[in-house]
This record gives sequence, structure tokens and C-alpha cells, in this order.
Amino acid sequence: MVRNCRRIRRNYGRSLTPDSFDLTHGIETTSRVHLTDLNIESPNWIHAGGYWPSPTDLVKEALSELKIRYEDFVFVDFGSGKGRVLLIASELPFRKVIGVEFSAELHAIAQQNIRAYKSATQKCKDIELVCMDFTQFAIPNDPLVAFLYNPADEQIMNALVNNMMRSVEGCPRELWVIYVTPSYKVFDTRPKLRKLKASERYALYTNAAGLISTDDLRVSLETTAAAARRTDEVS
Ligand SMILES: C[S@@+](CC[C@H](N)C(=O)[O-])C[C@H]1O[C@@H](n2cnc3c(N)ncnc32)[C@H](O)[C@@H]1O
Repeated sequence: MVRNCRRIRRNYGRSLTPDSFDLTHGIETTSRVHLTDLNIESPNWIHAGGYWPSPTDLVKEALSELKIRYEDFVFVDFGSGKGRVLLIASELPFRKVIGVEFSAELHAIAQQNIRAYKSATQKCKDIELVCMDFTQFAIPNDPLVAFLYNPADEQIMNALVNNMMRSVEGCPRELWVIYVTPSYKVFDTRPKLRKLKASERYALYTNAAGLISTDDLRVSLETTAAAARRTDEVS
């Protein structure tokens, strides 16, 4: 099934002026695109949302929370759109940055943005764009940071998460997940993953050993404080 709704041409947000990230770096990732404005070959288009960019500050904050050596990790944005998140990630020394996007038009815009990107501080120049449905994408066997900005509904998200979990079970390695606007509990049900952070803006998960969640930390601090109070009462 091919979506060909060009005649509908809703052009959602096309008139938006570029935000400061785009203006600074000479690119265009600000304007939203409705899926009915795109030709997408994958039958999974029906499960997808449109293109809208992640807030730059949110992505930077989430990336700074990863307790990793960036050089060891490959960063993958599942549903990379116009490439904004890839370019923000490329400011860190990731081993490689990959974007997977099933719209050929958005993929072409991302290619153009990556060529045009102006930055004296970019650390990772190895940016690969893959134009395909991310449920079919062969996840690389490197330590992985997976980024998702609410690209699809629960059914497709579950298919993707199944692939991710199969990949890290087949080839054990660290996985970190940044899930922006976490609408579905698709990661919470995975016993191998710990949730390190949860807010309405984004959730952070990892399978890294030895890390405790903020909830566990709070419970542990409360338990310690209660024990200290009991000791004070006795003495
Ligand atoms: C909300 S946008 C996020 C774009 C970018 N990741 C960001 O945060 O700025 C979600 C993107 O996922 C893409 N997408 C949705 N389902 C997909 C699928 N099954 N395979 C590949 N891309 C998909 C959409 O075309 C859209 O560009």
C-alpha cells in the first residue's frame, strides 16, 4: 500500500520560521510535516505520526544524562525525520550516529541538512542515514543509544522494542533508551531494562548493570532516614 496524498497538501506548519537551532547551523528542521503530505511505501505509515522535531534543550539534557563513554556507543534515532536529533548527537563523540526514516522526502531533507550543517564543535562526522521502515532495520551489534520521539503507535513500538531486546540478547551489550513523550509502556514491561528517569517529557531506560533508578534511590534514602530516626529514638 502506498500513501499518495499529495493532493491533500495540508502543509502543516510549513510557514514556521526556523528556530534558533536551525538559524545557528544553517539547516531546516523546524517545520512540521503531516504524513498525508508524504509518499511512504511501508504499510506501517498507518501506524505512524507525522514529523515534528524534538525540542533541542530536551535532547541535550537527555544525552547529558547517559552514564556512558560516548566513543564506545552507536546512536540510532528510530524515525529520524529531518535529522535534527542526529545533528545534536553528532556534537558528542559517538562512534557513529545513524538515522532511520521511512519517508524518502524527509530522508532527502535530512541528507541536505547534514551536508549544510555548520558547526565548529561537531565531534562525530560519521552520520549514516537509512531510508527504511525501522521495524526492518538490522540493529548494529555495538553498544547502543536508541532515541525515539513517539514515532508510531503501540503495535509498531512493540515490534521495534522486540527487535531491540532480541538484538541485545543475541549479542549482549549495553543499551540505553531515550523515549521522548513516552505515551506507551512498551519499555516498562521488559525485565532486562531499568527505568532511570520518568517525566512527561522523556523517559530513560538502560540494561547497564549496577545502575539504580531514581525511584529505588528515593526508597533507599527514605529507608536509611527511617532507620536513623529509629536509632535516635532508642539512644
Ligand atoms: C515525531 S517525528 C521525530 C523526528 C526526530 N526523531 C526528532 O525527534 O526530531 C517521528 C518520525 O518518525 C518517522 N517514522 C514513523 N514510523 C516510522 C517507521 N515505522 N519507520 C521509520 N520511520 C518512521 C516519521 O516519518 C517521523 O519523521
